[in-house]
Amino acid sequence: MPAISATAPGKLILFGEHAVVHNRPAIAIPFNGVHAKAAVFATPIAPTGRVRIEAQAIGLDQTLDQLAPDHPFAIAIHGVMKTLGITWLPACHIRITSTIPIAAGMGSSAAVSIALSRALAAFLGHPLEDSAVNTIAFQVEQQLHGTPSGVDNTVISFNRPVYFVRSQPIEFLKIREPLDLLVADSGIAAATGPMVAGVSQRFNADPDTYGAYFDQIANLVRQARMDLESGAGNDLGPLMTQNHRLLQKIAVSTPELDRLVETALAAGALGAKLTGGGGGGNIIALAANHQIEKVVTALLAAGARRTWLLNLPRHEEAVS
Ligand code: MEV
Repeated sequence: MPAISATAPGKLILFGEHAVVHNRPAIAIPFNGVHAKAAVFATPIAPTGRVRIEAQAIGLDQTLDQLAPDHPFAIAIHGVMKTLGITWLPACHIRITSTIPIAAGMGSSAAVSIALSRALAAFLGHPLEDSAVNTIAFQVEQQLHGTPSGVDNTVISFNRPVYFVRSQPIEFLKIREPLDLLVADSGIAAATGPMVAGVSQRFNADPDTYGAYFDQIANLVRQARMDLESGAGNDLGPLMTQNHRLLQKIAVSTPELDRLVETALAAGALGAKLTGGGGGGNIIALAANHQIEKVVTALLAAGARRTWLLNLPRHEEAVS
């Protein structure tokens, strides 16, 4: 029997991570170089209602009944059932796979919830709207990360660049000129929840200083939005580097991430910063086309585990 499947991309925060948790804006883009996939197979000869969930990468192969109610997969599945107003599921086998590095600031958890919710709803004959998927994925993010802003689930659910302020209507960015970005993986895993909690603790201990850092980040985000929407994309480089300096000040960078950022800049990148929760994970760099190869070579020599190239398309292509 053929499977019904759905995929969801990773994401990258271009500007504003952490400050966005504290009600400042952020800019995030989908990253289609990696993705999560969920496939749902009907298993008509299995006992009625038996839902098997398999995610090899995390060594999971259990039935829905065996999962704790606060397990991310259980929250997503029950979220779909509640949204559709159903109380039982036909017997099925859900297989989850992903090429998104885990705990690397690329939105792996949100992408898995979104692929799972979409695939299950389609299997049940009722594909969900992006906004419904977004609501379910936010519930999972809250369980996993404590006090997430919601930017990850939003950018991945809608698969479009967003200018995001928590609890405000979503604004999609109209990117005027395509941009070439580079992503480099430090190879160090760091869960987002503790990084967010650490920043919040330091903010509570010194609200004036941290509030001022968040305001400075917010100004960079607003400037970056204007540059992206007016076709001055290459002016983003210095803004990215300034954002990284502020992320260093709020203590979410690491020596490895700093080394990758400085390497990219020394090799000719227009700007670079960590992306996501920090503590490990990835950096992004903006480079002119003729510099990309040099920057990639330098990043790999400086210890990056792998790199990706990403062309951020202009608005018309982005929404096609
Ligand atoms: C994680 O991708 C982005 C953070 O700002 C956390 C959040 O917004 O929930 C670090």
